[in-house]
Amino acid sequence: MINYTEKIPNNVDLGRDRVLQRALPDGWAQFDYIKMPEYRWGIFLQPRDEKRQVNFGIHKGQPAWQDVPGEYRSILRRIIVTQGDTEPASVEQQKMLGLSCPSLYDLRNIFQVNVEEGRHLWAMVYLLHRYFGRDGREEAESLLARRSGDTDNPRILGAFNEPTPDWLAFYMFTFFTDRDGKFQLCALAESGFDPLARTCRFMLTEEAHHMFVGESGVSRIIQRTCEVMKENKVDAPSDVRALGVIDLQTIQRYLNFHYSVTLDLYGSDVSSNAANYYTSGLKGRFRETKLEDDHILRDAMYPVSEVVGDKIKTKQVPALTALNERLRDDYIEEIQAGVDRWQRVIDEAGIPFRLTLPHKGFHREIGNFAGHFISTTGEILTEEQWRSHEFEWLPSPKDYSYVQSLMSGRVAELGKFANWIAPPVKGVNGKPLDFQYVRFN
Ligand SMILES: [Fe+2]
Ligand SMILES: [Fe+2]
Repeated sequence: MINYTEKIPNNVDLGRDRVLQRALPDGWAQFDYIKMPEYRWGIFLQPRDEKRQVNFGIHKGQPAWQDVPGEYRSILRRIIVTQGDTEPASVEQQKMLGLSCPSLYDLRNIFQVNVEEGRHLWAMVYLLHRYFGRDGREEAESLLARRSGDTDNPRILGAFNEPTPDWLAFYMFTFFTDRDGKFQLCALAESGFDPLARTCRFMLTEEAHHMFVGESGVSRIIQRTCEVMKENKVDAPSDVRALGVIDLQTIQRYLNFHYSVTLDLYGSDVSSNAANYYTSGLKGRFRETKLEDDHILRDAMYPVSEVVGDKIKTKQVPALTALNERLRDDYIEEIQAGVDRWQRVIDEAGIPFRLTLPHKGFHREIGNFAGHFISTTGEILTEEQWRSHEFEWLPSPKDYSYVQSLMSGRVAELGKFANWIAPPVKGVNGKPLDFQYVRFN
């Protein structure tokens, strides 16, 4: 008989929970060399605060729920399943990238991102098994059955069915889409359902590393491109490509793609579901307890955009219904700051190129902009006009094949980096850049 208390690191008293012991196979988290099949996942929740309350909505001021409130059972399960579904999806999207890693340092980082996403799935599965009985177990099984990009049984959300075919896409994904994860987790970390709040708080500590991998990865690609442009005094994309690095125009197109598909993840601008989640105390706003208002939003209003004729107009709607849009706006603010940091790398190299976020309505499939053809600068176009510019704004099949041509094999010699990316400023955990970050046995 396996002693599960030792096999699955946890702080949720797993050792005493017989039903869970049967349902969850063994696990262990380790930060050293370990053979992949022997890797074990843990279940971690932020320690419980006995005095914690529901901090918003109609139950504001009641003690936080330690069990699922019967009336909210199905929406709470849906929220957890939707979050859980994204976690393995990103691993499925990224699973081939080890074959084309630019260095052992980067290979080590993608492994860490992937195992932590696996653990995040595990964290959501724990909640489903522990708090939702049989239908929770069935939902957990379905999480394993869906596959990113599968035509019959895809992942729930669009961005998690897009391929991540190369390392530029991977870094963009971890910068843009893992940050959506951060904002969703922040909203769920405010939940009145305490076990969900506590598990999301813990997951956020891991999410920060994923976003670091993305931001620094793109930054290193930009840096390398700028170095090569300066050394060789070239700026035309074809000349830049001839030197084996990724032109800034292609980086901008990847940025446009990942930003726009990630904006869709926040859902409709005006949403009665979002209002319900909030009013019920299940999903809060970004930094809910730090905000100074009534935390009920009975009379508050919030601006949302909509397309009227050939113009984009802003109108005020009840803030309760605009919570998706508000979370999206909070996200955009943070994204803009990251793009500004990338811009500084270009500016410091003295290259006159500006990286910009496209208009919020560009290339959207969900919400008020869906069905419209909007340029990166926010003009409403006809479909025909839009299509004639499509590959100025979004990566073309040729862009993807060029980027992939740079990444045809893995770079696995100690301390070596692929030509298209600069080394990082420092290694992991105080180790040098030529450290053996991954062993092949
Ligand atoms: Fe995650
Ligand atoms: Fe993540």
